Amino acid sequence: MADKPTKGLADVVAASTALSDIDGKAGRLFYRGYDIHDLAGRATFEETAHLLQRGKLPTRDELAAYGAELVSGRELGVLVSANISEVAEKQKPMEGLRTLVSLASADDPDRDSIEAEADLRKAARLTAQQPVLVARYHAARTGGSLPDPDPDLSIAGNFLLQVTGEHPTARQVEIFDACLVLHADHTMNASTFAARVCAATLSDMHSAIVAAIGTLKGPLHGGANEQVMKTLESLDPSQVAQSVRDKLAAGEKIMGFGHRVYKTEDPRATHLRRMSEELATASGDDTYYRMSKEMEEVVFETKGLYPNVDFYAATVYHYLGIPTDLFTPVFSISRMSGWTAHVIEQHADNRLIRPDSEYIGERDQKWKPIDER
Ligand code: COA
Repeated sequence: MADKPTKGLADVVAASTALSDIDGKAGRLFYRGYDIHDLAGRATFEETAHLLQRGKLPTRDELAAYGAELVSGRELGVLVSANISEVAEKQKPMEGLRTLVSLASADDPDRDSIEAEADLRKAARLTAQQPVLVARYHAARTGGSLPDPDPDLSIAGNFLLQVTGEHPTARQVEIFDACLVLHADHTMNASTFAARVCAATLSDMHSAIVAAIGTLKGPLHGGANEQVMKTLESLDPSQVAQSVRDKLAAGEKIMGFGHRVYKTEDPRATHLRRMSEELATASGDDTYYRMSKEMEEVVFETKGLYPNVDFYAATVYHYLGIPTDLFTPVFSISRMSGWTAHVIEQHADNRLIRPDSEYIGERDQKWKPIDER
């Protein structure tokens, strides 16, 4: 007989990983032993992806080789290219990405191989292609043209260029790059767990990533950043405190607050709050930033909850000119580096992930033919 389940698997250790670690009480996050505070704003997203997927911060030569692999790997396959317009017309962004990543597997040279070398190559290609898929999807639905990538720009810079249609400033690129670093990995979060469950059946990397994208989409996970912006847009700036108190009194959850693991401030929120303030000031209209600060104060006062990664990410992306319904796709661009690293790790030391369940249904039912029911 199985033990009583822990609802939502809280505190259950579901896998061993050398990728990231959280100290929930101290509010600290580490990627392969490096404190996120040391990486954000200093390591680029490309270096961080290399750290996660290939086990170490790259030397200059390793980074150049990995960068070249990313540039050649961002080329989209025939099937995915042929279908982007129709997908963009019929599916919302996260649904569309789920479809497009699945289609992308058709033209991947390593397709369903789960060999270690194939996994490394696919991890780089998926990481390189995700921002291109989001930008191409957006161009297709808006009928806009897609600027060619600038060889002097990073993944972060090219994404901003292709989505906003304008050359980003160096500071905008630095800030967005830091956002990608901050979202890259986060232990056994729901989408990573989904990816690992899929990979543990010895299914291929694209299948695991499709499972992860479908999981990230939900408003209790990656979908929260979009909901935060919608909440800000729906509030009267002069009534923020009262509106939030009313929502809480009515038992509503305020998106962007609370966390399963952190019992104090999410260390990623510390960086994002600062970036949001800087961009708000630079934009000349800091209304959403000020509203966010007020929301933060009221939610803490009333419920003792801290903002999580999604709360200030929303206004940072908004001030960077990213459309609100692309916020969760942006999360997927970053988390692709972590998901793929987890698939590599799972395949390298695999056992099927198959927990037990507690049966709570009826027993000893008597079968009746259909006409007697
Ligand atoms: N707003 C208001 N109340 C919240 C809350 C929020 N954002 N997050 C948690 N709570 C409250 C719950 O209502 C519950 O209260 P109760 O004990 O009085 O019923 C308590 O805190 C525990 O919440 P629960 O949902 O059981 O915690 P969890 O560990 O299962 O969930 C989250 C963690 C992140 C899913 C949850 O905090 C949440 O839904 N946050 C909003 C969505 C979000 O921002 N997600 C992104 C996460 S990075």
